[in-house]
Order: sequence, then structure tokens, then C-alpha cells
Amino acid sequence: MSKFIIEGPVKLSGEIDVKGAKNSALKIIPAAILSAKTIHITNLPNIEDIDKSLSLIADLGAEVKRDKSTVTIDPSGINKTELNPVFANKFRASIMFVGPLLARFGEVTFHQPGGCVIGASGRPIDLFIEGFGCLGAEIKYTEEEFYHLKAKKLTGCNYFFNVVSVTATEAMMMTAVLAQGTTTLQNCAMEPEIKSLADYLNKQGAKITGAGTPTIIIEGVDEINAGEFEIIPDRIETGSFAIMAAATRSDIIIKNCHPDHTRVLLNIFNKIGVPFTESKDTLHIKPTDKIKPYSIKTHEYPGFPTDLQSPYTILMTQAEGSSLIHETIYDRRLLYVDMLSQMGADIIMCDPHRIVINGPNQLYGKKLTSPDLRAGITMVISGLIAKGATEIDNIYQIDRGYEDIDGRLRALGADIKRIGTLNL
Ligand code: EPU
Repeated sequence: MSKFIIEGPVKLSGEIDVKGAKNSALKIIPAAILSAKTIHITNLPNIEDIDKSLSLIADLGAEVKRDKSTVTIDPSGINKTELNPVFANKFRASIMFVGPLLARFGEVTFHQPGGCVIGASGRPIDLFIEGFGCLGAEIKYTEEEFYHLKAKKLTGCNYFFNVVSVTATEAMMMTAVLAQGTTTLQNCAMEPEIKSLADYLNKQGAKITGAGTPTIIIEGVDEINAGEFEIIPDRIETGSFAIMAAATRSDIIIKNCHPDHTRVLLNIFNKIGVPFTESKDTLHIKPTDKIKPYSIKTHEYPGFPTDLQSPYTILMTQAEGSSLIHETIYDRRLLYVDMLSQMGADIIMCDPHRIVINGPNQLYGKKLTSPDLRAGITMVISGLIAKGATEIDNIYQIDRGYEDIDGRLRALGADIKRIGTLNL
């Protein structure tokens, strides 16, 4: 198993490019199934989760030609409607294939997705199942934990999401594109990746209005085309690098990003004294001596993203005073806190959803294990701040979402070594 060894503390400097958004790429690949035509995707991040998604669509019979950050998918040869558990069970976003297969081929079989460390009892798919049922799918669940969904023709419906869910919103939106009649979705998630997906589908002949707002209306069409899709910059990478710069008091220019998609974090930077300038696609974070504390509560977009909760926590260990972090989206997304405490952070766990940080704390290098993707990048940031050597195991969890993170940080002056090979 490979690991990172980071020697700190270090001040970084220079420029870093943001890659394409993982959570957009993981939806546009399955969306390719909605058409029989070839799609060409650019700005594709070179990360583990994307490899898995491309393996899954290839296993269904699509032809996949990849060249670094671009991929061409020809779905005309798809000849299966069963998601191969060997590929599908490895990543939660395989659930995004279900709707497009159902919509285009009238049936789909898939295994109950595996558990995940950030949700207490796995991550549920009840909204997907209920939503597909609302569109007219007949649903069977076997003792072997396989779902079989069938529908001669899906029919538009009114569906209200009791919980705001990014992937369930996207799944219902994609599926309804080929349903007969009108679908109205309420209490939808509003992430920029959803709007970007809708814009592409509309260019190809879909009739979606309201994406990016709580109500999305889809007029079903018989078929759609395919074309070029450029993946938007990853707003969580942007935020992670901005926090990394602030926490290490570095001068970093973050390029190829959309600062507007991380507005809540930038508003907080103004409050806590992290200086920055921005243009349409660049963010320049400048060093500061004094960081003020500021409490946050995670929230669906445009609120504070759960995916930046752990990096923000490490920033607050460097702030002068106390702050409260309230994780509202996931039950088990504060698991990494113990490791920060071992490094010297003064953090009180109030309950499974809330912590209080009393900063500033000098951190010291330790042996750590990354429990999930976002906690993983937090450990990298903590290693850059800490005195001495920090060793991070299970970096597969970081490679899942951040392309060549060690190479890109070395270019900024970080002393980070990868022991073992890149897990791609
Ligand atoms: N939920 C249900 N039932 C469902 C689906 C979700 O109750 O059928 C609940 C979840 O348990 C959770 C809440 O809804 O409490 C929100 O989860 P959501 O479904 O929005 O999460 P997701 O769509 O599975 C996406 C991102 C996550 C990101 C969340 C929140 C993708 C592939 N994943 O997940 O990204 O944390 O939205 O913004 O888009 C990451 O990149 O590290 C990551 C975990």
C-alpha cells in the first residue's frame, strides 16, 4: 500500500491549476447512455473514481477512448443492462448509471451499493428507488440484494425530495429526459454540477428548465443527441487549495477555477482575515499573520459544503480563538478529528455532529491513516503545517479525488514523498 511522507512546516508559493470536477465527471459519463451518439468529454480529471466509471461503461459495451484529460465514449454498442458488481460495488456513484439505462433500455439490474465510511449505516438510495418508482418503474429486490427495475415507457411525474440530495436530483433529472410527458422535481439540490449537466442535455435536445434552483421541470423527449462536454473546474479542489494556502500562510495563485462557486468560503476569508484577490477564473490567496476564528455549519449549495468541512477544521486549528464546526449532512464525517488531536490540535467532540476547536495550536508530525477522501486532503494540509514528519497511509482515498496531488504540491515547494506507486 502506498503512503505519503510530508516534512513540515513549509510555506508554499507559485501557481496551481484546478482540474475538472470529479462530481461532474461522475455524472456525464453515465449520461452518455441517454443517447446512441458519441460524446467527447474534455477537462476530465485523471483520478481513481473516473477510471472506475469508465470501466463500468466499457463493461456495458460502450467503446471508450481516453487520452489523458479527454475521453470519447461511443455508447452504440451497449448490449447489457446489468451493472457488473465487480466495478459498480467499488464506488457509490455507480448508482448514476441506473437512471440512464432504465430510461434508454427500459430495464436495469444492479446490486445494492456498498457501505461508505461517511454515512452511519451506509449511504441510502431510498430517494432513487422511490423516484424511479414515481416515473413508473416496476421494482423488484432479491434476497441476493439485487434490484431489478423495469418500465416499458417511463411517464413524467411530480416528485418531491424529502431530503436534498445531489445525486438523486441528477438521477431523476437524467431519467425524466426520456420519459413521456412532464416531470416536476421539487426540493432539488442546486449544485453548479447539476446546472452544467442540464445545460449539456438541453444542447442535445432535452427540455429541462430550472436546474440550479429548487424546482426542475423536464418535458420528456423521444431521443437526444450527443456532443462536446467540457467539465467545469472542481470547486472542492479550489476550496481545498485556498484553505491550504491560508493555513500554511502561503502565497498561491489558483488558476482555472470559478471563484464564484466557492463564494461562501471567500466570504468567510473576508471575515477571518485571509487576504485574496479574484478574477473570473483565478484566485490569489495571500499570506496573513493572524487568522480569526469563525464557526460554520455545513449546508447544501450555495451553503458551506460538507466536502470542505474537514479542510476548514484544520484552518481553524490555526485561528486565534474558538470556533464551532457543525456537520449536518453526514453522520460519520468527523472521524478524522482524533488524528488531528494526536497531532496537537485542541478539539472537543461535543457529539457526532459537532466539534469545538480552540486555536491556535502547534501541530506535530504523526502517523495517520486517511479514512475518506476529504479527510485525506486535510491530513496532507496538516502535514504541511506540522513540525516534523507526517506519514499518511491509505492514500488511495486521496488519489480517488485529487489528481497527482503530491506532484502538484511539490511544484509549490512542498516536501512530500510518495512511497509506493500511484494507485491509478
Ligand atoms: N440521502 C438519503 N437518501 C438517498 C440519497 C441521499 O437519505 O437516497 C441523504 C444522505 O444520506 C445524506 C444527504 O441525503 O444525508 C445528502 O447526500 P447526497 O445524496 O446529496 O450525497 P450524494 O449525492 O451521494 C454528493 C457528492 C458528495 C458530496 C454530497 C453533498 C457525488 C458523486 N458525490 O453525494 O461528494 O459530499 O453530494 O454535497 O456527487 C466527495 O466528493 O467527497 C463526496 C462525498
